[in-house]
Amino acid sequence: MSSEQTTDSSGPSGAGVGPWGLKLAGVGAALPPKVLTNDDLTAWMDTSDEWIRERTGIGERRLGGTTSGLATEAARAALEAAGTAPTDIEQVILATTSPDYMLPGTAPAVARELGIDCGAFDLQAACSGWVYGLVVANGLIAQGMKKILVIGAETLDRMTDYHDRGTGILFGNGAGAVVVERDESSQGQLLSWDLGSNGQHVHILYSEHDGKIQMDGREVFRQAVTVIQRSANAAMERAGLTVDDIDLIVPHQANIRIVEAAWKRLGFSMDKTEMVLEHTGNTSAASIPLALDNAINNGRIQPGSTVLFVGFGAGMTWASAIVRWS
Ligand code: UT7
Repeated sequence: MSSEQTTDSSGPSGAGVGPWGLKLAGVGAALPPKVLTNDDLTAWMDTSDEWIRERTGIGERRLGGTTSGLATEAARAALEAAGTAPTDIEQVILATTSPDYMLPGTAPAVARELGIDCGAFDLQAACSGWVYGLVVANGLIAQGMKKILVIGAETLDRMTDYHDRGTGILFGNGAGAVVVERDESSQGQLLSWDLGSNGQHVHILYSEHDGKIQMDGREVFRQAVTVIQRSANAAMERAGLTVDDIDLIVPHQANIRIVEAAWKRLGFSMDKTEMVLEHTGNTSAASIPLALDNAINNGRIQPGSTVLFVGFGAGMTWASAIVRWS
């Protein structure tokens, strides 16, 4: 069963307006410079640009860098956009499935690179991780914190076999970061959220220690469409919103056909959807903040906009959150 917000939680109630608000004050992104195109893959794999674009919507993905390095670069850009000094950050939450080391977590290295020594931890919820992080940040803000960095960063090239037709076409590296602030004006709000998991499906998408990603692509596809629909609907219902109230949807960027199939069932339009998949591939926990950065740069979000984030991935995990922009 999904974890649900309740009216006695310390966050905003289902109706949406709490005594304090939440502001996504600055967003930043980082992509490593090395590009691997679909045509590059055809040099060693029986595939084609046409097949990959048609079946996934992906044209290229980025390789190289380190998770801490990309996370730090994205965090610096987010801090600059927010006009926030690193020393004002009270917590670093790094959603990643590809940490620099098995031990320790990567978040402390990011904090150190930023010149700060606040709390820092990794959050592993695969491709849903950044949305989980946003909900955790909301809880910490309810406890009195004022400024939190929520980062999604991945170097999936270390876990991907680029000779495997099922996974090698999908995954790439990148990072996105958001400065999440307490909004005393209460204009900005996390209106609702829905977090869920189903550990029955561990083996449809997993990697052993030091192994490569193993995936039953068809089953992941099937499950993803179902959980997206359920989770997005749950979040809208809790916020008392309908499809028409949502100004922009920022989904996990895994496969354009997964989004299209889920949207058909939900009644969402692709026009209201931010997609960067074509140029990034699937960057797991980084994909939603990367797409959010693009949406902001293209002026697609204004004060008062209602934005739905929806993630899904290995675990399986899923996560939706609806934010009213400050
Ligand atoms: O964050 C979540 C991460 N995971 C995902 O999002 C995965 C979701 N699943 C998918 O994206 C899709 O399942 C894939 C893109 C991985 C595969 O697409 P599909 O439409 O499910 O292909 P399929 O495995 O059912 O294979 C269909 C055909 C087969 O040929 P035949 O048997 O019909 O002749 C495959 O051999 O496509 C062939 N094929 C390919 N052809 C060219 C499979 N992979 C490739 C390829 N290039 N890379």
